[in-house]
Amino acid sequence: MSAAPAPRPEPDPAPAVAELETIVSLSKRRGFVFPSSEIYGGINAVWDYGPLGVELKNNVKRAWWRAMVQERDDIVGLDAGILMHPQVWVTSGHVASFSDPLVECGTCHRRFRLDELPGAEGLSATELRDEGVVARLGLRCPIDGGPLSPPRRFNLMFKTHMGPVEEEAAVVYLRPETAQGSYVNFKNVQQSARKKLPFGIAQIGKSFRNEISPGNFVFRMREFEQMEMQYFVRPDEAAAAFEAWLPRRWDWYTGLGVTPERLRFREHAPDELAHYAKKAVDVEYRFPFGWKELEGIHNRGDFDLSRHMEASGQNLEYFDPATEEHFVPWIVETAGGPDRAAFTFLIDAYREEEVRGETRVVLALHPDLAPYKVAVLPLLKKRPEIVELCQRIVGDLRRDVMAVYDDTASIGKLYRRQDEIGTPWCVTVDVESLEDGQVTIRDRDSMTQDRVAVGQVRQLIIDRLAAAHGG
Ligand code: GAP
Repeated sequence: MSAAPAPRPEPDPAPAVAELETIVSLSKRRGFVFPSSEIYGGINAVWDYGPLGVELKNNVKRAWWRAMVQERDDIVGLDAGILMHPQVWVTSGHVASFSDPLVECGTCHRRFRLDELPGAEGLSATELRDEGVVARLGLRCPIDGGPLSPPRRFNLMFKTHMGPVEEEAAVVYLRPETAQGSYVNFKNVQQSARKKLPFGIAQIGKSFRNEISPGNFVFRMREFEQMEMQYFVRPDEAAAAFEAWLPRRWDWYTGLGVTPERLRFREHAPDELAHYAKKAVDVEYRFPFGWKELEGIHNRGDFDLSRHMEASGQNLEYFDPATEEHFVPWIVETAGGPDRAAFTFLIDAYREEEVRGETRVVLALHPDLAPYKVAVLPLLKKRPEIVELCQRIVGDLRRDVMAVYDDTASIGKLYRRQDEIGTPWCVTVDVESLEDGQVTIRDRDSMTQDRVAVGQVRQLIIDRLAAAHGG
């Protein structure tokens, strides 16, 4: 594992694609992501994953689970409910503090997040709380130039009602983070899994935030997923555990193909820290719309367990048999999201190359992430024996991997289509295959072609996949 790279100074690297629209249109055209409820005009900030998108996102989640749970002795999984006891969100500080600064235009009544207005991007967290900041900077509505109100805090939690009565006492929240599920289950997990400190709880699941200004495609949505891991440690080991998680999370992204030059660490300024955090470092990616958070790594101290212990009256201390001490564990959190990660992998993998005077679009996705690992293509779809052999090969492959058969265009076009969706290998069956029992395997990135025996195709794909993730 590499050491934590230092924060990267200038020069600012170019984004992998100049225009976000390139990825948005590819996603729609090829079935990665669609606007939700599109036939009714869509609903702001909710997106649906199509046939290829769901494979990509599942692969991202699988890769995370593999790295965080499967390959580690010290982390176990959990799947807590989206709806939780409403007191959880009072205790956690979300009811009081989970808010963004909102300003409203006096003429068009549109609402904006203050820190995203032109001219306000660089403001510190303290300045964003300052009632006079809009007047001092002369900020105006970016749509119609109208006057803007002073900022007020807008709570991002969605509310609903539990049971048949819509009254205040029945209010529950859609969780805005998965983390709290891990805290309230700390004792259940620790005792049932018989874990000794340090150990972690990993979760993947939906979270909801009523974002003031969602946007940039799936970057900021109101319904999204998180992949969060809470690592419980002795208080005196928290600082070292925090530093150790930085390179691990960096390596996870680069190991799956993200260009290191487009990643950086950014530490939060003291006045920017979330209410629970003692220290926070974001892994940021150079998106087409600037450097933005991909994942946050937080030292949360004993904030969460101490608060839940106090509010619930339950003892959430840990007894260390080695030192015979009772104490409240500290928590180091790695908080990312499969939507943002899948989006990053898509952007970073996008290439346009000149091949024999034509532009070839390639998604150079890591094979672990590619929606299909292999496509089986007939050179002549009119020859039933060729189609039959293709079907046999694809059926065999499907026992282990996502494989697809396609005969709806000429072979050149079929290759281009698979390149554009990131399929690492194409198997082509031709007339000769019927005689010599061999097929061609084409590699997406190098476009080299190897001739292999039909009986070896499945094992060869399995071996290449294992080699791609270093196995
Ligand atoms: N438990 C700490 C926490 O929730 P966060 O930085 O607010 O921290 C963690 O969120 C991750 O969740 C982000 O880095 C991002 O990947 C994802 N995420 C947060 N809000 C999101 C949104 N509106 N749309 C998509 N992903 C989001």
